[in-house]
Amino acid sequence: MKLSQAKRDYYRKKAKKEGYRSRAAFKLSELVNKYQLIQEGDYVVDFGCAPGGWLQVTSKLVGAEGRVFGFDLKKVDINLSNVYTYVLDVTSPDALNFVKKSVVYEVDLILSDLAPNIVGVWELDHARQIDLTLRVIDMVPHLLRPGGNCVFKIFQGRYLELVRDRLKEMFEKVFVTKPSASRKESSEVYVVCLSFLG
Ligand SMILES: C[S@@+](CC[C@H](N)C(=O)[O-])C[C@H]1O[C@@H](n2cnc3c(N)ncnc32)[C@H](O)[C@@H]1O
Repeated sequence: MKLSQAKRDYYRKKAKKEGYRSRAAFKLSELVNKYQLIQEGDYVVDFGCAPGGWLQVTSKLVGAEGRVFGFDLKKVDINLSNVYTYVLDVTSPDALNFVKKSVVYEVDLILSDLAPNIVGVWELDHARQIDLTLRVIDMVPHLLRPGGNCVFKIFQGRYLELVRDRLKEMFEKVFVTKPSASRKESSEVYVVCLSFLG
């Protein structure tokens, strides 16, 4: 068995054992611990939230006073009292209005783990994933409080630098990182943005 396959199986089994809906939960846990992204009572928006691993992680960390608002093309049923989920296509022209109406308050953290259906053509998958990411970046000034943080999954490729430069203009600090739960041969990296300049 390849090392990458073994790693995937390890995290899949671990997710099952610990009751998480996806392996992705471990990627977010690692980032949250490393960059201290969540405090109790925080309000969080999670784009591309299905099947709900990140919702489970954030729900626990924000506690009873916090709220987590998840958006995805797919419907997510999850029984956590501080989590609200909505069906949304982030590319729809009304997406921002819909999110603003659903969330109401300025939030402390925006997460995006959005990924298109993979066709296996690196450049095409990259461009489509960047398009989804840019939709969320455009929403940030309307949703995030000054000083708030963001995490974006991005498929590596020619537009990564462009996106990173844009984020550097919006946040005090920007880091590109790959959590150990992310497979080495996967093109994904996570861009962690700290302290929104407003
Ligand atoms: C890697 S999964 C997210 C996993 C999730 N973070 C978790 O912890 O379970 C990527 C998600 O992006 C969603 N997605 C893709 N395109 C979308 C779009 N245009 N609007 C909203 N969600 C989209 C997919 O439906 C999919 O559920």
